[in-house]
Amino acid sequence: MDIRRQRTFIMVKPDGVQRRLVGEVIKRFEDKGFKLVALKQLHASEQLLRNHYAEHDGKPFFPKLLAYIGSGPVVAMVWEGANVVDVSRKLVGATRPSESAPGTIRGDFAIEVGRNVVHGSDSIESAQREIGFWFTPEEVIEWNDHSNVWIY
Ligand code: TYD
Ligand code: MG
Repeated sequence: MDIRRQRTFIMVKPDGVQRRLVGEVIKRFEDKGFKLVALKQLHASEQLLRNHYAEHDGKPFFPKLLAYIGSGPVVAMVWEGANVVDVSRKLVGATRPSESAPGTIRGDFAIEVGRNVVHGSDSIESAQREIGFWFTPEEVIEWNDHSNVWIY
């Protein structure tokens, strides 16, 4: 598959929405040059969150994680571009904000692992799985960049 068509699932978590950081997160992905191909705000169901975070089921932080992500609306997105999965993890920063570098989203905006503002898929396989949980195929929009036609 064309590497430029790689896709990842990015979510602004409820703390990010409440702190008005949605635009900030989108801006960082746009500034980097990635293409937004799906976007919606929703209050996720418990079943959706159980699917999304299935790998963490049984871990000590799992109940709190579900309560946190289910505590308010999130903004779910799909971004497309070359190596977008790996590059997004770099833009997002390390899981624990105490370890995430300044300049990353978590490094700049978070203090607690339990309120770390944003989610990004950790592999191409996770991205495909997560996009399928959060979006129907019709909600992911194919579009071409015709900016060379209308920007002078
Ligand atoms: P994880 O998939 O390990 O991190 P990432 O979001 O960077 O892929 O964990 C998922 C989320 O679970 C993480 O973003 C925040 C929460 N979490 C905790 O609350 N406590 C923890 O000790 C860990 C590892 C994660
Ligand atoms: Mg993860």
